[in-house]
Amino acid sequence: MCGIVGGVTNNDITALLLEGLNRLEYRGYDSSGLIVLSKNNTFDRARSVGKVKNLEDNLKARDQKILGNIGIAHTRWATHGEPSISNAHPHISMNSVSLVHNGIIENYIDLKNDQLNKGYSFTSETDTEVIAHAIDFAMKSCNTLISSVQLAIKSFSGSYGLGIISSKYPDQIIAARKGSPLIIGIGKNGNYIASDQMALLSVTKEFIILEEGDIAEIKINKITIYDLDGILVNRPITISKLKEGQVDLGNYDHFMQKEIFEQPQAIRDTLESRITKDSVVISAFGHKAETIFKEAKQVQIVACGTSFNAGLVAKYWLEDIAKISCNIEVASEYRYRHPMLLDHTLFITLSQSGETADTVEALKTAKIINNNISTLCITNSAESSLTRLSDLTFLTHAGPEIGVASTKAFTTQLVSLALLTCTIGKLKNIINKKQEKKIIDGLKRLPGLVNEALLQEVQIKDLAIRFKDTNSALFLGRGTMHAIAMEGALKLKEISYIHAEAYPAGELKHGPIALIDRDMPVIAIAPNDELLGKLKSNLQEVKSRGSQMIVFEDTNSKVEAMDAMEVIPVTSNLGRITAPIIFTIPLQLLSYHVALIKGTDVDKPRNLAKSVTVE
Ligand code: F6R
Repeated sequence: MCGIVGGVTNNDITALLLEGLNRLEYRGYDSSGLIVLSKNNTFDRARSVGKVKNLEDNLKARDQKILGNIGIAHTRWATHGEPSISNAHPHISMNSVSLVHNGIIENYIDLKNDQLNKGYSFTSETDTEVIAHAIDFAMKSCNTLISSVQLAIKSFSGSYGLGIISSKYPDQIIAARKGSPLIIGIGKNGNYIASDQMALLSVTKEFIILEEGDIAEIKINKITIYDLDGILVNRPITISKLKEGQVDLGNYDHFMQKEIFEQPQAIRDTLESRITKDSVVISAFGHKAETIFKEAKQVQIVACGTSFNAGLVAKYWLEDIAKISCNIEVASEYRYRHPMLLDHTLFITLSQSGETADTVEALKTAKIINNNISTLCITNSAESSLTRLSDLTFLTHAGPEIGVASTKAFTTQLVSLALLTCTIGKLKNIINKKQEKKIIDGLKRLPGLVNEALLQEVQIKDLAIRFKDTNSALFLGRGTMHAIAMEGALKLKEISYIHAEAYPAGELKHGPIALIDRDMPVIAIAPNDELLGKLKSNLQEVKSRGSQMIVFEDTNSKVEAMDAMEVIPVTSNLGRITAPIIFTIPLQLLSYHVALIKGTDVDKPRNLAKSVTVE
């Protein structure tokens, strides 16, 4: 949450800071700000509430341009203190230190009381301001900026990604990370910091990924990094494979729309070199995968939000197809209870960003509880906390996902989980060659099937109008389609602010059926599987309570359309693995078009942020 960008260069830095903020806006958009050290080494700061566009307008309206070669900037997702100018970053202490922060300082109240006693005053309600004062105080006893930061951070508990500048040390930025992502970009005309690589693609492709506890001193032609223990370290330079165009809208109106339509290619890319003509490539999960999967006695999945919904589909697949017991839990719960974790558990984390704080902490918790487990992360981010902490990594090749509502990350996670199911089933001799080929053939058909499902957009657009004045909606499915119904409900909530719930269709009669009336649309998913007959009965129960219904079906399901029940054929002849992936598409399109009708900010829905790196 919150995005950080900064740099020390030969040129004026302001334009780059704004460009970086625009690229990081998906991380938070309650307020934004930047600060540079001007020629006479004084701070020049601008802050605005709302989107980065407001900051740009604020800067344009100024008589005096903000100019300087060194600066830091921030886009905020509020945790402590409402979105306001005074709470926006950068924060300043005593005109000597200024900083931007991503994370939460948990003991800030104690620190604040201590600093008030020392004579510091506070201009914000944030937990961040104590960091600036702590560094300013440490500067009184230290003779470099970096040693001041090293001393100050000893008193913090919580998480931070920090970019720090000082009017007393006008040639450097200090970057520090613990629990929040931070990278260094190495450019021709200077060096930079950012929360992620996308912010800096116009100036460099060479990056250093800071590790937990690292503190770096960044000058125009020198970068020095110390680890958690203060030992000088060399971190490797990685060359980013991201292309600048990948993070632009192109001909689309919204990133979410672009990302929905990119799914055929994203799935193709995720499958590439992971399958052969008729089998799965086991080593695609890493060279230790074969041993680890053979030894695995059960699977535990943890994830959040959309990634959790993908994991729920995988639970059905792993137990049904690979015959391995599988539990799944939301990471924010798992990390705080005292779970039982048996030896030889394959512990899987799912995460688009690879940085979701709850998921990262759940993984750390699991490793503490039982040393005798193996860990696999499935993520869209090659250089992330999860990849560093896991024994095995499987990358979804979805490409950058900018829209806050996750779409292509979800379907590529499902593809990855399908490959995992096939691999484990094969290694445990549950799946024979013929069955493996059938799964592979199904996966190969996916890009084409997704394209076909996308053709339903016109019809779905018409349906979306019905949700104009709707306050609540119910999504129903059985088996894996319950997880897909959950994903459909989550998408509708997130971007159109309509209350939506998902239920396993058979559970309806145990309570939620009381909610059903003409004003509560029900959206059901009807694949042609062994539960179809039961689902049809459930649909009748809903119908007889007067609900308006929309049923997305496999053409072979032959759900009978009736008054107030619209049946949309999405596809035909889908299998257990392909069906959940394909039925996701109309639900994504529906929520997208409802949001357009409602006039919400599709890519940046209120109160949300893309990468949730705080608790
Ligand atoms: C929903 C959405 C969130 C994320 C969740 C986990 O559209 O984007 O629910 O899925 O915050 O994020 P990752 O997958 O990055 O761990």
